Amino acid sequence: MTGGGDWQHDVLKQLTDATDGADASPEASSPPARRPEAPADQAAPAHRPALGSRPAPAARPSAPDPHLPAPPTPQSLPTIDPRLTIALGRPHHGDSLAHRAGRSLRRLTASAGQEVAEQTRLAQEVQQPVTTGRVVAVTSIRGGVGKSTVAALLGRTFNHYRHDPVLTLEADAALGTLPVRMGAETVRWACADLARIVTPAMQLTDVTGYLVPVADGGWLLPASQGRVGAPLDVRTYRTVTLALRRYFAVTVVDCETLPGEVARTAMDTAHARVVVAPMTAEGIHGTRQVLDWLGQLPHAALATTVVALSANAPDTTLDPKTAAAHLREPGVPVVLLPYDRHLAQGGPIHTAMLSQVTRDATVRLAAEVMQRAVRVR
Ligand SMILES: Nc1ncnc2c1ncn2[C@@H]1O[C@H](COP(=O)(O)OP(=O)(O)OP(=O)(O)O)[C@@H](O)[C@H]1O
Ligand SMILES: [Mg+2]
Repeated sequence: MTGGGDWQHDVLKQLTDATDGADASPEASSPPARRPEAPADQAAPAHRPALGSRPAPAARPSAPDPHLPAPPTPQSLPTIDPRLTIALGRPHHGDSLAHRAGRSLRRLTASAGQEVAEQTRLAQEVQQPVTTGRVVAVTSIRGGVGKSTVAALLGRTFNHYRHDPVLTLEADAALGTLPVRMGAETVRWACADLARIVTPAMQLTDVTGYLVPVADGGWLLPASQGRVGAPLDVRTYRTVTLALRRYFAVTVVDCETLPGEVARTAMDTAHARVVVAPMTAEGIHGTRQVLDWLGQLPHAALATTVVALSANAPDTTLDPKTAAAHLREPGVPVVLLPYDRHLAQGGPIHTAMLSQVTRDATVRLAAEVMQRAVRVR
């Protein structure tokens, strides 16, 4: 990346130093009093991140303030009952075998050069430097349209292309699917826990100890432990996003459905917004109402909004061009996310199993989002 201000340099240095000296540091050998028990299963990623320079989180989070009593350590819980994990079956590839073979042949043709040039351009947009952490809120007018899927795809894409820390945050406590989609096997600390713990004195290495490391890089903060419980409140949301912006170049927020209070707050306070629209006439109509509402917000919210038009059923009959044209009328870009067999399967998203069209659409969406997120001060 082309450098993004001193704060990012400092944050990366902190992480690198912590990784280099993890065992030798006095921190590691004599933990401070009242340190909350380390979330062992969230302490280290299963694999090293793909980008070599991205370091692993510290082994143990340190206590935020020695004068405060340590918060009780929540239990680590599986995101899916192990009996169901066995029943998940093998992941399908988004593209059929014949399609993949055809694509390999097309790579040898003249148009392949243009494709590469376009991919490079989009990658550069996704990698744009930021001066302060950017928050991207993802929501929709109704449930089940693909918010968590889009948030997971965006989180993974930002993480893949950027060299600075990326967080995917779940702000939907209604038994959301984000941890599963991000490949987390267990969860322990959630938004409300972190809101109680986080202080400005904490280092990134302290904070990441409370997060779930994502297998191919980046971090995840769940909204809950996947139990029916208290909904996330606006205050918790604000505390967590404001505090974590200091450490993460990009935070992708998987919000609850509009017009929930947290979703409205997230949409109002984010640097860029993604509204996920389902490929149905009623879904497009409802999404258009959301865009009109955003157009009335005082701070040009529409100018930093992108629509992801998601076809999460194989047999939709609505003409995508007409649907996209209707949504573009208020002046927002619309990116079509096609039906993808791998995404339809549910369960963890394996980037390598996505169809090529989905991968291209996701990078385009991330580029459109980043272009807008960097505009805001
Ligand atoms: N592009 C896609 N292609 C195929 N199926 C998809 C696609 N996007 C989402 N799905 C399917 O739609 C289902 C719902 O998606 P997801 O959980 O992301 O929606 P959501 O809006 O977050 O739902 P909720 O409101 O319950 O949080 C997924 O389990 C997946 O099967
Ligand atoms: Mg969801």
